[in-house]
Amino acid sequence: MSDNKVILNYDGKNFEYPIVDSTIGDRGIDISKLRDQTGLITLDLGYKNTGATISEITYLDGDKGELFYRGYPIEQIAEKSNFTEVMYLLLHGELPSTEQFSSFENNIKKYNFVADELKKLIDVFPRSAHPMGVLSSLTSALTAFNPKAVDVKSKEELDLAAELMIAKFSHLCAWTYRKTQGLPINHGDNSLNYVENFYKMAFRLPYEEFEIDPVVVEALDKLLILHADHEQNCSTSTVRMVGSAHTGLFASISAGVSALWGPLHGGANQAVIEMLEMIEKDGGDVSKYVAKAKDKEDSFRLMGFGHRVYKNFDPRAKIIKKAADDILGKLGIQDKALDIAMQLERVALEDDYFVERKLYPNVDFYSGIIYRALGIPTEMFTVMFALGRLPGWISQWKEMRLKGDPIGRPRQVYQGAEKRNYVDIASR
Ligand code: SDX
Repeated sequence: MSDNKVILNYDGKNFEYPIVDSTIGDRGIDISKLRDQTGLITLDLGYKNTGATISEITYLDGDKGELFYRGYPIEQIAEKSNFTEVMYLLLHGELPSTEQFSSFENNIKKYNFVADELKKLIDVFPRSAHPMGVLSSLTSALTAFNPKAVDVKSKEELDLAAELMIAKFSHLCAWTYRKTQGLPINHGDNSLNYVENFYKMAFRLPYEEFEIDPVVVEALDKLLILHADHEQNCSTSTVRMVGSAHTGLFASISAGVSALWGPLHGGANQAVIEMLEMIEKDGGDVSKYVAKAKDKEDSFRLMGFGHRVYKNFDPRAKIIKKAADDILGKLGIQDKALDIAMQLERVALEDDYFVERKLYPNVDFYSGIIYRALGIPTEMFTVMFALGRLPGWISQWKEMRLKGDPIGRPRQVYQGAEKRNYVDIASR
């Protein structure tokens, strides 16, 4: 049995700090008394070694390349489950019974409406606006139309807010897409399941019958499942931080959308396709771009490669890579970008620079290939990531509120000017 405490020797004294045990994975040193006892704080830029909370939702092992949703391996979930069931699992901790599933699905359909005034809000955005900026604004605006979902206190109020958010967010994602395409927006169709409904709202053309392609729906469902949660990543930590001030769920999710937009995080799926297109346009010489990625003088990074936690293959990337092959085959699509991605992966994974730094393809490396095959424009890729990550954001926010985590307020090591007196401008 490992030690259950650590001893810090400082200033000639020993200080003991208890270790918080885990079910699996990292154990944590509880340093809540560190500053009172030693006057010291810890410093960990980017929180690479710092746990922000105790959670029961998602576990990932970066060395083994393992990912579990509420204990279920992502490989089994991706193969056997569906996105609505995964949303229930993440929110409630257990796979639903038949009755629980249909009650959950019916509740989402019951709230499957977005106030017409929000359409006026969409109209004021220029068509050139990036969909993630539109989505973040619309998500925050939802608060105005659902005041009950703002300062939730009970589990029941929280579950209602979660179902309202899930029901409406897919409309906002579909409507954001329609805006960028200059198309009229569609309302939902409650005869369809969640993913089919999103697909029809996003892609149904005016004055045409719309046929649900099961190959497309299956691919979308799998991608949404694979993006559903990923423990304390940047955007989830943002949702938790904003929610820790008891800000409402919708505004907290809006902050998460903005964090996900960044090209180092969810925005990487868009950056990957732009990178692959650039390589293709430049003659397809992948070795040239691997060399650029290694060159410290060059700011170019291999987008879709590397991960803060995974130092092995991202299990989601493995599943998506196989799905990309399958879907392009089923849809009869040849995509040069997929060939370039596979060449890039092969060259990089044989290169010491990537091997030494344990840089492998992550979830974003292949996902854009599938989105493109489904007819989704590059600028919408991160909106698709957000739609997938929504249940994870909500589940983590719910856990933080129900466990009563304190308001997030980190400290700092100050290296600025020492105390000094004000000097009038005439004397400067
Ligand atoms: C997501 O956290 C999550 O779980 C995120 C996510 C989720 O589901 O929520 O998994 C989704 O955000 C996936 C990541 C998508 N981002 C990208 O693909 C952008 C490209 N990747 C990198 O920018 C980077 O790998 C990060 C941001 C993902 C991780 O950065 P870290 O952990 O801060 O690592 P680092 O920047 O300190 O890099 C360590 C070394 C450095 O070299 P040295 O200083 O040691 O010489 O590796 C190098 C980096 O220069 N490096 C890369 C690289 N990624 C890291 N070099 C070239 N190309 C890259 N992609």
